[in-house]
Amino acid sequence: MRFTRRKFLISAAGLAAAVPLTRLLAQPKFARNPFSLGIASGYPAPEGVVLWTRLAPDPQAGGGMPDAAVEVAWEVAADDAFRKIVRSGKELAAPEWAHSVHAEVAGLAPGRRYFYRFHAGGVVSATGRFQTVPAAGAPAQRLHFAFASCQQYEHGYYVAYRHMAAEDLDLVVHLGDYIYESSWGRNHVRKHDAGESVTLAEYRNRYALYKTDPDLQAAHAAFPWIVTWDDHEVANDYANDRSQFADPREAFLTRRAAAYRAYYEHLPLPRRMQPRGPDMQIHTRWDYGALARFHVLDDRQYRDHQVCAHPDRRGGGNVVQPADCPDLLQPGRTLLGSTQEQWFSDGLTETGARWNVIAQQTLMAQVDRKPGEGQSFWTDGWDGYPKARERLLSLVAAKRVANPVVIGGDIHTSVVADLKTDFDDPKSPVVATEFVGTSITSQGISAKSVETWRAENPHIRYASSTRRGYTTVELTAKRCHARMRAVNEKDDNSSVNTLAAWTVEDGRPGAQRGG
Ligand SMILES: [Fe+2]
Repeated sequence: MRFTRRKFLISAAGLAAAVPLTRLLAQPKFARNPFSLGIASGYPAPEGVVLWTRLAPDPQAGGGMPDAAVEVAWEVAADDAFRKIVRSGKELAAPEWAHSVHAEVAGLAPGRRYFYRFHAGGVVSATGRFQTVPAAGAPAQRLHFAFASCQQYEHGYYVAYRHMAAEDLDLVVHLGDYIYESSWGRNHVRKHDAGESVTLAEYRNRYALYKTDPDLQAAHAAFPWIVTWDDHEVANDYANDRSQFADPREAFLTRRAAAYRAYYEHLPLPRRMQPRGPDMQIHTRWDYGALARFHVLDDRQYRDHQVCAHPDRRGGGNVVQPADCPDLLQPGRTLLGSTQEQWFSDGLTETGARWNVIAQQTLMAQVDRKPGEGQSFWTDGWDGYPKARERLLSLVAAKRVANPVVIGGDIHTSVVADLKTDFDDPKSPVVATEFVGTSITSQGISAKSVETWRAENPHIRYASSTRRGYTTVELTAKRCHARMRAVNEKDDNSSVNTLAAWTVEDGRPGAQRGG
């Protein structure tokens, strides 16, 4: 059924401000809730934010929308009853972007709490909230954020997100593996009910499945997010234009284009990040007044291929001993690509922030995985790109970057590490602190392996792989305080508790237990 424009405006009662008229292509009456995938906000700025939703009345069947653009109205209010609407507008949700909406709101006030919601076809979405950040360079007392990664849907319930939504946070940072392209692991509590995602339609359905989870929706509605991806948003262990099986390049780039497009369609990303074919720039900087600058990195899209692949595959990660893999130490190898490395370096120079949070996908510290004599390394992480890591950490040291803290995910293990330019030299100074968070649900490595990590690598101060959850970080002028929050992902009623807490003091790299 087609609504007239007048009827639409009446049905979307509460829409206060006048909006420019655009051609109404279709205004369907929805048989089911079009906001089945929830709502989200992202990339809060001093005066703006990105608001996201996607219309999908039939989420598992491609969304269930007509092949036409649909008008979606949004409102931002100072109160959750929407009595004081401060900004409103309309977007066209287009079929070529899976009827997703990325509304860029401007004209807000710095450091304020706001509420938002959407209207489409007479239906009102749930209400979300976000806080704008302090003005550029303005003093800020405190930033409290959580970071998360690795949420294999089949491995557990998103009870971690339910608890995260109840915390008092300003921001959530997601560090990758937001979806998994394939089914794996044991003791599934629920199923993908679909094979490996390869096409755009398949990636869209996979995001739709994950995003129907009410706890994930709650964490999006409660706080603004900033995000980066790891490999599983596309395919396990991919590197740039190469899959772990070294599929034909053109075919893999077609798959990557589909995966990146679906990623954009399902997250509250600014429009400047919209992909073009297989390319999508998501590395960015995010500032929280004078207190913190986040350097958000992309270590998948531009990296050199992994060296010394497993004999059963032609690409992807492998565990190797440096003596058997001299290519590992090639000086020019890069994980970020030269353009992003230069951009990262520029961003370090101009920062006046008290804390510099380097948000990236995986463990940065070296991990010798071989018990006793000799060393062996996993080539898909920074250990596969040791010279690139040395360049990055040398830069951080040389530029005297204020309070560098690296956060990461990927390994389904909580880790606290001292980062050094030479991990094999016990006298090498600590140049930055690293916190890696455990997974939201994805199954971890064995406790025995983690014991070896600790025994072989004195710069690894803490490591625990047995629990799932997320990490909260409180930044003030004086300290950075991280709490590893743990749940039982198999129990949908699980409580949350703090497994460990570590503190970094201002001006003193390296974490101390407790605080
Ligand atoms: Fe993962």
